[in-house]
Amino acid sequence: MAKKLNILIFPDPRLRKIARKVTKFDKCLEILAEDMLKTMYEANGIGLAATQVDKHLRLVVMDLSENRDEPRIFVNPEYEVLDGHKMFEFEEGCLSIPGFNETIARPDKIKLIWQNLKGEMMEDTPEGILTVCIQHEIDHLNGKLMVDYVSILKRDRIKNKLLKDFNRI
Ligand code: NI
Repeated sequence: MAKKLNILIFPDPRLRKIARKVTKFDKCLEILAEDMLKTMYEANGIGLAATQVDKHLRLVVMDLSENRDEPRIFVNPEYEVLDGHKMFEFEEGCLSIPGFNETIARPDKIKLIWQNLKGEMMEDTPEGILTVCIQHEIDHLNGKLMVDYVSILKRDRIKNKLLKDFNRI
């Protein structure tokens, strides 16, 4: 049975760690992906990066379907921004920054490569929300957060609110 993991909340410094590449495609990786999916579903999220559960591996889970029955797993995901892209604005949320949404502009055309749980190479030129979501999740693997796109003032306000709510300072 998959277990629910603890999600790190901003400004936890562990969210700033850079995840390392997955090189072992074993049962442990499969279990971690299953646990992350359970954690994501229970938190009502659409995406979760391993960094957010304090596992510093390049692994992302996602489910963008309406019925929450199309889990997707991306191992070692990377993207390249394609020529002719535009900046697309979307209101994003993050399980590590609960209660806050930010409108962030990201390139709308990317080429995405990743591996599946067996280590096989996959490739896609996604459209719509997947484009935004995977960029958000890859940011997590690089220690980058949604709040890095907003002003320092706003970031401090979010930080203080979350410290108060989650650490009882
Ligand atoms: Ni996030």
